[in-house]
Parts: sequence; structure tokens; C-alpha cells
Amino acid sequence: MSTIDYNSSIPNNVNLDSDRRLQRALERWQPGYLQWWQEMGPDGFQARDIYLRTAISADSDGWAHFDYVKMPDYRWGIFLADPEAGRTIPGGDHAGKPVWQEVPGEHRTALRRIIVTQGDTEPASVEQQRQLGKTAPSLYDLRNLFQVNVEEGRHLWAMVYLLHSYFGKEGRDEADELLARRSGDADKPRILDAFNQPCDDWLSFFCFTMFADRDGKYQLAALAESGFDPLSRTCRFMLTEEAHHMFVGDTGLERIIRRGAELTVLDPNGDARAQGGIDLPTIQRFINYWLSYCLDLFGSEVSTNAGDWFGAGLKGRFGEARRYDEHSALDQAKTLTFVEGDRLVEREVPLRSAMNEVLRDDYYAECENAVRRWNKTIAAAGLSFELTVPHRRFHRRQGLYAGAFFDPAGARIDEATFEAQRGEWLFTDADKAYVNGLMTPVHEAGKMAHWIAPPRRGINGMPFEFEYVRFD
Ligand SMILES: [Fe+2]
Ligand SMILES: [Fe+2]
Repeated sequence: MSTIDYNSSIPNNVNLDSDRRLQRALERWQPGYLQWWQEMGPDGFQARDIYLRTAISADSDGWAHFDYVKMPDYRWGIFLADPEAGRTIPGGDHAGKPVWQEVPGEHRTALRRIIVTQGDTEPASVEQQRQLGKTAPSLYDLRNLFQVNVEEGRHLWAMVYLLHSYFGKEGRDEADELLARRSGDADKPRILDAFNQPCDDWLSFFCFTMFADRDGKYQLAALAESGFDPLSRTCRFMLTEEAHHMFVGDTGLERIIRRGAELTVLDPNGDARAQGGIDLPTIQRFINYWLSYCLDLFGSEVSTNAGDWFGAGLKGRFGEARRYDEHSALDQAKTLTFVEGDRLVEREVPLRSAMNEVLRDDYYAECENAVRRWNKTIAAAGLSFELTVPHRRFHRRQGLYAGAFFDPAGARIDEATFEAQRGEWLFTDADKAYVNGLMTPVHEAGKMAHWIAPPRRGINGMPFEFEYVRFD
């Protein structure tokens, strides 16, 4: 059981006190981080008391402590899941051999790239969500936003720890760069496209935490199956935090859908907007937009890199150790659909080179499950409308389907047809303006904006009416 040392200037459960050089390097990085938080973290609210959870141990049960904290005083630190005795490399060419505690020289560049790419998404999402506090639909939601934000900040710390600890000067330079890039910046954008899109309304925020944080779950889960043990342990603890982010997204969307359905039923013309709600077709267009961006995050359907990283044991499949019996993924194939001229053609590719798609399969199935649940909510309100998960070929900018056009059911169409229907499938400027018009803050405990249903329960056993953010 590893308790976290909060006496150190950087809270940690990695015995940082015993490694002065590393501690000093991280202490040198820390002021830059705090400055980044002030400049690019939540705009406003920095002096407010927020009811936040902080990790107190890395155990799965009871790791969190809840109390009022001002965000700049949040104890960002370095928490790794406890080591597993006798852990072996889960997948690839070295499956079954002991895990590495140091970076193998031949995989140094690849591992650094993997860690930097993951690390870059963490501050990016904080930047994307920077303005949302000003329009939170309730104190409960405001608190959840800030919980997600401080934990994304901590995820940056998690990746920076690995860079500082295992990658020398190059790692330290990369850690500095993580504070220098900016979401959506023309000159120094964040690495991945979805993390450069503005996320400035709460429907987008819930789509983001539902779909982008869920991508995070799958990426972290693949890295939790790494043969590089410090990376695996880091990601295993991050996954416990990620669960809350997805909860925020999933329940947030469910609450907007529930309210949208109620208001549709209430209106004599079935028009949720006339009742001040968000209509289900608009919600569908936001889902289509964000999910298609998030499907891109898994990378190309056919990827030599993905195959090499699996073979080397740097990443595994989702649940590699637990869900699979055969860990080499050699002499196996996966059927993919290719675009050839006007036609779609199915072809087999070696399983290893389809590893991105294997991970995307698991992610996509989980999204389908969520939409099935939301449809039950809609049916319970007495409506026959059904939300759908857009086909994975729809509106893609990366991989096999980029550059071609598909409808949300995955049928091939031409560009003119796509553009003619775009406004039915992806949110329009008018949708965005309507949703933005609803975004007025509700800062009174126990009150909820009109366009979203209250949560079914509060945080940490507290009632919804609890003062999750103190305003005086
Ligand atoms: Fe994260
Ligand atoms: Fe997250």
C-alpha cells in the first residue's frame, strides 16, 4: 500500500525525496506549470473554494479525499499504481518476459513520442475548456468541470514525471514544450486535431468528456499494457481519475437528452426549442461532430507504427493480459474496408498493422452501449426518436476514409451530396448560436439551468443542493 507523501513540495508516492536530481528538475518545471495554469487554466474562479477530491493513496479503494480547495493550491503530484510483483510483458514479441524498469535503448524514441503525444492532450483539454466556468448550468457542474481540469493538470504531471525521470535532457525539453504549445494556436498548436477544436459550450463539454476522455481511457488502457512498467503503473492510476471524467460526460449528455425529450413532449408542436431546451436532432449533430473527431484520435486503420509498438511490447490491446490468450498477434488477420475509386472493398491485413482499429472497435462498442442507454431515456419520455452512433467512416479526417464522403450510416456519397446535407448531420452556425444563447450561468446552490435535468445524485454522497463552489 503506497501512501502519498504530501510533505514534499511535489506530492508523490515514488519516493521522490530519495532522488534529489529528479526532484530538483521537477521543482524547476513546477513554476512554469503554475504560470501555465494561471494563464491557460480556468478563466476566473481561481480564488474560489471548490469542493474537490485529491488522491491520498494509489489503492483502488478509498483513494480520494474531498474538501474545499482553491484551484491554484491543488496538490498536483505524481501517483503511480502499486507495482505488481512478477509482472511480465503482456503482449508482442517479448510477451511473458519480465517487464522493463528502465527504457530499452532501441525503444527510446518511440516511447518518448508515445508519452509526449499523450501528455500533450492533458493541458490541451484544460485550454479548450478554459471559458466554460462562466456559463456553468449549476454549482454541481461547475465543480465537476474544475475537478476534470485539475486532474488533467495532474495527468500532465504524470507524463512529465516519466519524461524527466527516464528521458534525460530530451525529456526535460519535451516537458517544457508541453507548456509552450497552445490549443488552437496557429503557430504552436497542440499535436492532435481534436484537441485544437474549441469547446466553448456545455453541450460540447459533455460530448468532449464523453468521447474524447473515453478515447483517453482506451489510450491509457493500451499503455497500461506496456512492457515499460513505470508507464503502465502511471496509466493505471490515471484510469481511476479518467472514470470520473467519462461519468461527467455520459451523465451530462443523459441529462440534456432527458430534459430535451421532456420539453419536446411538453410542447404542443413537439418543439423543444420553443420550450427553451435543446432538441434531440441538435444533440445528434453535436454527437456526430465530436465522435467523428475522436475516432480520428485512434490513428490510421492500417499503421506500421501501431504494429511495431505492439510487437515491441510498448502498447497492448485493451485488456491484453486479461482478455487475450494469444499475445503475439502474429499469423492472424483483420478484415478492413478500403476505399477504392468509387467502391468499398474488404481486404485482410495482418492483425498487428490493424492494432489502431482493434482499439477503436472496443471504443466504438462502448459508445454504442451509451447511446442505447440514452435511447431508453428518450423512450421513457414517450418519444419514438432514436439517437445513433455515426458510422466510423462518417466525417473522418484521418485514415482510410479521409478525403471520401459518407453519410452517418456509412454509405458512400459524393461531396455535393455531403455538403447539401451537412447541416442535418453536423451542427450549424445557427445550432451553435442557439446553444450558446442558452449558456447563462447558474451560481445558486440547488438551482439548475432550464435546458438540462438535475443529476440523479450529488458528489461524494452530498445532495445536489450542496454548495459545491463557494461564492462568498
Ligand atoms: Fe487526462
Ligand atoms: Fe480526462
